[in-house]
Amino acid sequence: MTAPTLEIHLTDADLTEALRADARRGLTSDPKTLPPKWFYDARGSELFEEITRLPEYYPTRTERALLERVVGEIARIARAEVLVELGAGSAAKTRLLLSALSSAGPLKTYVPQDVSESALRGAADQVSVEFPGLAVHGVVSDFTDTLHNLPRGGRRMIAFLGGTIGNLIPAERAEFLAGVAAVLEPGEQLLLGAGLVIDPAVLVPAYDDAAGITAEFNRNVLHVLNSRLRADFDPDAFRHIALWDAEHEWIEMRLEATRDMTVAVPDLDITVEFARGEQMRTEISAKFRPQGLTAELDAAGFDTEHIWTDPDDRFALILAARR
Ligand code: SAH
Ligand code: AVI
Repeated sequence: MTAPTLEIHLTDADLTEALRADARRGLTSDPKTLPPKWFYDARGSELFEEITRLPEYYPTRTERALLERVVGEIARIARAEVLVELGAGSAAKTRLLLSALSSAGPLKTYVPQDVSESALRGAADQVSVEFPGLAVHGVVSDFTDTLHNLPRGGRRMIAFLGGTIGNLIPAERAEFLAGVAAVLEPGEQLLLGAGLVIDPAVLVPAYDDAAGITAEFNRNVLHVLNSRLRADFDPDAFRHIALWDAEHEWIEMRLEATRDMTVAVPDLDITVEFARGEQMRTEISAKFRPQGLTAELDAAGFDTEHIWTDPDDRFALILAARR
């Protein structure tokens, strides 16, 4: 086994700088918002892993079952020598793909990418142990602005699993897909996992579980602001909210202030007022319709080669080739 390598394009100082900009913009806007990538410090990444095991959170197990069913077919269509995975997290489901791509095809290298260094190190170490013949090269970066840093050479497939595409707002999503197309050569492929529009009676509990793990995950963004920017948020004074926005077809997670508060953020030299009942958006999780996704991929420069869905039509895997 060769030890995995790690390339760090976002240092701790870069992350703090980026959070400063996002927090200044988000906490001084009306309504207040924060981007979801800030959930994922080491604790946030662990909380996400807990979420994936919750009875209510169907996406991970649905995508895993779908991958188990179709991974052989994907491996037959795919021609990848290098698998790049954006937002890889623990890469738990990716093992299925790595196994199929390396036994049925020419796969030589796996490049997991994530903003969470702790999650990435764990994933890279585990995969190296399980796939000793594979070169593993982790990249710590932000997939919304550093795609050009991804390794070139060797025929690539970019995987973006878990439905994380839905955490981008529509304008960011279009820019992201165009960015992915721009770094791929014609014929190289994108494997996209996306949650589909389903009954809100199933969707909403997936984002508001009985054990309160998603609530902790949501409040974790306040812990991140406290530790990185010396803010003095009292996370327990915020209530977790998950609601289905039928017009936009997305789940919206918010944090609601349960009392009037003045929060100091010394590293930004600001104080932020929250009125009791005020809500701050922390995440959208868009759900899709297959035709809509195909159209968005087409607009970004991809031809959809195949769409697979689970028997309940809750989740889709799409294989698309760069034109
Ligand atoms: N792909 C895994 C993990 C999904 S959780 C799965 O399917 O289970 C979302 C992952 O994306 C987290 O690991 C988080 O750290 C990462 N992430 C979120 N925003 C990011 C960004 N802007 N750039 C890079 N990684 C990001
Ligand atoms: C990472 N992403 C796809 C998750 C989702 O379902 O949108 C993040 C999450 N938010 C709340 N629960 C899980």
